Amino acid sequence: MAKSSEERVNHGTIERSTLLLFVLSFLVVAIGGLVEVVPLFRLDETIKPVEGVRPYTPLEQIGRNIYTREGCYTCHSQQVRPFRDEVERYGHYSIAAESMYDHPFLWGSKRTGPDLARLGGKYSNAWHVAHMINPRDVVPVSIMPAYPFLQQRELKFDDIGEHLQALSKVGVPYDGVAILSAADDVRAQATGEKTEALLARYPGARIGDFDGQPGRITEMDALIAYLQVLGTMVDFSKVRVDGKKE
Ligand code: HEC
Repeated sequence: MAKSSEERVNHGTIERSTLLLFVLSFLVVAIGGLVEVVPLFRLDETIKPVEGVRPYTPLEQIGRNIYTREGCYTCHSQQVRPFRDEVERYGHYSIAAESMYDHPFLWGSKRTGPDLARLGGKYSNAWHVAHMINPRDVVPVSIMPAYPFLQQRELKFDDIGEHLQALSKVGVPYDGVAILSAADDVRAQATGEKTEALLARYPGARIGDFDGQPGRITEMDALIAYLQVLGTMVDFSKVRVDGKKE
């Protein structure tokens, strides 16, 4: 009993002295702040580059911008958490390097629809076109909104070079040539013509007429190019992410 009454006295002392209360509160908040802030200074060491992760092609990057514009992230997450149920449903859990070139990241916080972090290659381009035009045509019970207009809108990409330049300022390794060739790279990826330079810059990029309308480059082309690359850059049968040596 003696101890607890002594504690009450100490607490009273702190609460009655504005200065003491302020100094001690400040210390507590400062410790919490340091714990949150200090790891950010070591971000470069925290995120280890992993084989296969490359910056998005200009077409994929525009698709990503459309995904952001349409608010797809309000219903879809892009992060497989390291829990057994998630890994069995979606595939390997997400690793930091997979979103190292994402500005802003689109991890999302709500799953009205499924996670999309490992979507690439799961469906054909034609499936995606049908699904985006009217989700109910391929998934009868779907409550996802329809986005048919993406198939009609010509893709605007005359400013994609500037966009890549802005991304290069925050650390995405687009060099001067990649920035200058950005519009050509969009055309090459969406039409399949003159793709050598594109593929040298972005190894493994999927080429093709994504929206099923040859001769036109629409917003649907860009969005599907983006959806098809999600989660496909790292080959998890080859890469170990636990830091141990083979
Ligand atoms: C109102 C919530 C909502 C919004 C907004 C939304 N979706 Fe969906 N999405 C769903 C639901 C629910 C499903 C599951 C049913 C289905 O497949 O249609 C789904 C399924 C999907 C699938 C199939 C995933 C799989 O693994 O089977 C893709 C791809 C997809 N959405 C892409 C998008 C894109 C791209 C956008 C933005 C243009 C978007 N969604 C916006 C709710 C939403």
